[in-house]
Amino acid sequence: MLLNHQLEKAQTYADQRDGYGKEKVTRLLRLIKNYVNQFGYDSLVYTSIGVIKAHVSNIHSFKNDQVIKCFEEILSQVPDRSQLDKERGGIILFSANDLERDTNLFNLLSSRHSCRQFADKAVEKEHIEKAIDYAMTAPSACNRQCVRAHYYDTPSAIKSIVLAQKSDVQWCLNAKGLFVITGDREYFRDYFERNQRMFDAGLFSMNLCLALHNEGIGSCFKMAQKDYAIERATKQIASIPDSEDICVLLLLGYYPKEKSIYAKSTRLNREEILNIHE
Ligand SMILES: Cc1cc2nc3c(=O)[nH]c(=O)nc-3n(C[C@H](O)[C@H](O)[C@H](O)COP(=O)(O)O)c2cc1C
Repeated sequence: MLLNHQLEKAQTYADQRDGYGKEKVTRLLRLIKNYVNQFGYDSLVYTSIGVIKAHVSNIHSFKNDQVIKCFEEILSQVPDRSQLDKERGGIILFSANDLERDTNLFNLLSSRHSCRQFADKAVEKEHIEKAIDYAMTAPSACNRQCVRAHYYDTPSAIKSIVLAQKSDVQWCLNAKGLFVITGDREYFRDYFERNQRMFDAGLFSMNLCLALHNEGIGSCFKMAQKDYAIERATKQIASIPDSEDICVLLLLGYYPKEKSIYAKSTRLNREEILNIHE
C-alpha cells in the first residue's frame, strides 16, 4: 500500500525527475509476485497493477525491459480480467471546474449535536453501510487505510462493550447501535509513525458521524479508556483483533421525532482558535 501510494504521489508533482521510481517500481513488482503466490488476487493486487500501469505510462518514470516484461507477465496471469476494467490505482485529472460545492454545508455541520437520546427504532443496515461508504472518503496517512469500524446493534453486545469500558454508561445503553473505531498498528513501521493510526481513525470517525447525521442518525462519541486492562477486556468482548487499537466509540440511533434536550456546547471565538502567522 505504501509503494502504491509513493508511486501514485510521485506523478502528482509539478516537477518530475527523469527516471524516477526505479527502486520503488522494482520492489512493487517483486512484492506483487510474492503476494499473489501467498494470498492470490484481491482488490489490493488489482490496485497495484493499476498503479504500475500508470507508472509505465508516465513519460518521466523509470522503466526498462525488465520492468515491462515483469509487468506484462503479471498482467498475463490475471485470473479475472474484468477487474482490470475497473481501473483501480493510478492517477486522475481534476480541475477547478470539477469541484463539487455545497452551499448548505455549514447548515449540515452546525445542525449536528451530540445525541444521547435516541428514537425507539432499529437502525437500518443500509444506512450504516452508506455512512461507511461516505466515511471511507476520509484521507489516511500514505493511503494505508488502517482504520476498521466494528458495528454492534444488539442490546446485549452494546451493553457488554460499554460496561467493559467502566465509565458513565447509562445513556449509552439506550443507543440502537455502537461503532468501535480502531486503527491497526501493523500498518505502520516504527515509532515515528506510531500515533498515526489515531489520527486516521479520528478523521474517519468524524466523516462517519457526519454521514450518519445526514441519514437522520444521531450519534455521540464516547472516549475509549486508555487503560491497558480495560482496552484488552473490551477488545476481547467485542471480538477485535489484538493488532487493532481502539480510537473511539460512537453510540447512535435515529434522532427522536419529538423535541429532546441537547447540550449547546458553545465554541470558543474564532480569534481564540485561528492564529494567522504573518
Ligand atoms: C473523542 C471524543 C470523546 C468523547 N467522549 C464523550 C464521552 O465519553 N461521553 C459523552 O457524553 N460525550 C463525549 N463526547 C462528546 C463531546 O462532549 C461533544 O462532542 C462536545 O461537547 C461538543 O458537542 P457537540 O458534539 O454537540 O458539538 C466525546 C467527543 C469526542 C470528540
